[in-house]
Amino acid sequence: MIRNPIVVAIDGPAGAGKSTIARKVAARLGFLYVDTGAMYRTVALWALRNGTELDDWHRLEQLALAADIRLEAESGRVFLNGEDVSEAIRTELVSDAASRVAAVPAVRRAMVAKQKVFAETSSIVMEGRDIGTVVFPEARVKIFMDADPTVRAQRRQQQLVENGRSAALHEVEGEMRRRDTRDRERAEAPLLQAPDAEYLDASGMAIEEVEEAVLKIVRERTSH
Ligand code: DC
Repeated sequence: MIRNPIVVAIDGPAGAGKSTIARKVAARLGFLYVDTGAMYRTVALWALRNGTELDDWHRLEQLALAADIRLEAESGRVFLNGEDVSEAIRTELVSDAASRVAAVPAVRRAMVAKQKVFAETSSIVMEGRDIGTVVFPEARVKIFMDADPTVRAQRRQQQLVENGRSAALHEVEGEMRRRDTRDRERAEAPLLQAPDAEYLDASGMAIEEVEEAVLKIVRERTSH
């Protein structure tokens, strides 16, 4: 247990650049980086693999509670019950399923409980959709990172290409909009900006500029 761990909460829609920035900022600060989207993706992957219906909330809760999810800090790799699923959780099928699984209140409760544990032993940079609103409402640093929908779709498409997949931009954008709408409109912990979060539109900015902007916010919010 460390005495006053600092939590940097970064929320925002898909493709805004949260993961890239959160990882870099965590490295610069020497904090632990936690990708909470990967956790929902992992539960979704398990559900898809064993044929769980995505509207079977009871079974999804059981999977979320039973899942042994490990995020390896140094490599950024993600493990489900000991198996490296880092690539398997990045498909479009899993993206869609993750957004559906993430709407289940009991699944969220199970993930939030796991997420809170990270800040018991370390200062963290945690990114997701509800970090500043639900997981760590008392976080000292909260950032809502946004970007133009087309820019976000281009980033997502780029990620798919890097993972050896291809997809038309309009398809990626349509799919992303559907998921974002579901994430924003769900009843439980919807994606929204916390009142005390700093809004950052990263659309026209280079990665280094966004990184510096985030570090500046961290310095301002932790200096007193
Ligand atoms: O950030 P991502 O695209 O890997 O997230 C996958 C899905 O999980 C996405 O639809 C939103 C959801 N999610 C969530 O509801 N709450 C979080 N804290 C993180 C992700």
